[in-house]
Amino acid sequence: MATIEVDTDKLMSFVFRAVDEVGATLNAALVVMGDRLGLYRALAGAGALTPAELAQKTGTAERYVREWLNAQAAGGYVEYEADSGRYSLPPEQTVALTDESSPAYLPGFFQIALGSVLDSPRITEAARTGEGVGWHDHVHDVHEGCERFFRPSYNAHLLTEWLPALDGVVARLEEGGSVADVGCGHGASTILMGEAFPASRFIGFDYHEGSIATARERAEAAGLDGRVSFHTAPAASYSGTGYDLVTMFDCLHDMGDPAGAARHVRQSLAADGTWMIVEPRAGDRVEENLNPVGRAYYGFSTLLCTPASLSQEVGLALGAQAGEARIREVVLGAGFSSFERVAETPFNMVFQARP
Ligand SMILES: C[S@@+](CC[C@H](N)C(=O)[O-])C[C@H]1O[C@@H](n2cnc3c(N)ncnc32)[C@H](O)[C@@H]1O
Repeated sequence: MATIEVDTDKLMSFVFRAVDEVGATLNAALVVMGDRLGLYRALAGAGALTPAELAQKTGTAERYVREWLNAQAAGGYVEYEADSGRYSLPPEQTVALTDESSPAYLPGFFQIALGSVLDSPRITEAARTGEGVGWHDHVHDVHEGCERFFRPSYNAHLLTEWLPALDGVVARLEEGGSVADVGCGHGASTILMGEAFPASRFIGFDYHEGSIATARERAEAAGLDGRVSFHTAPAASYSGTGYDLVTMFDCLHDMGDPAGAARHVRQSLAADGTWMIVEPRAGDRVEENLNPVGRAYYGFSTLLCTPASLSQEVGLALGAQAGEARIREVVLGAGFSSFERVAETPFNMVFQARP
């Protein structure tokens, strides 16, 4: 091997940064563990607890809880009082780790990350051949984590910012319109819209049968059975025409043939209908995405989105950081007359396309 000149200080600073990242990688499992065992919820508003008190409150084993608490304290997730040997959850962490209604809610993000990591050996093998790995092939934590990750953001933005940013859509839904939510997963967005617009009808479509089964359970639990329904169908051939609104939440880039899906959306829409596309926020150039959000998205894109697209016909593999220009090309290429960005958050871009 050729000798390479190394700056030892830079090398060691990189190694120590990586130590923190190894701790963070393990923390994905620890957050999911804390969420599942109810450890964060038991700490919420409980003041400072000893490991034995937390174990007792949650019906868990003290020795595991003590070790978990120390890992959480080292990462700044809980606070440790050395004098009393007690641990507490600060108010901000309480919101981020226990309040499912907050846009800052994090456990779903960790759950989908952990599921992606668990499935990574299959992605490593697929990368040798270029084969795909479908969304349906993943562990349940990917599907449920996805739902729990996106729902808080839809709760925070969909009804108050994203739908009102579309031309005339809210009025149409208030009067009574028809909506297809394509690539709906567990139906978080479909159900949210269904609850808000009782005069309208909503159909969620997804090619993954397991997700549709869960979405149906969620609609039943929400008391929306009937007006909100779910069907297993791919984006390029779902049923129905004359829709006032077609929505796609964080799924266009996962599809093998987004151009084929776009053509189908166009012919399924009413002449004055609207297609709302929500996609991960990204700049058009790689260098614009080399930041923490881009890092997470490129990671998910490598382990989930790109293999999902490659597993389907065409396999265009837009990637989760496709950027506005690439999405515009796909949409206008399908014959839509207009395409514009109407809203954004730190994590998402929202587009409106008209036939
Ligand atoms: C990242 S998930 C988003 C799910 C949901 N829209 C949400 O926001 O929670 C991507 C979804 O796209 C679906 N999907 C992928 N390819 C599809 C296709 N060709 N037709 C329909 N759905 C598809 C997957 O099954 C998965 O549910």
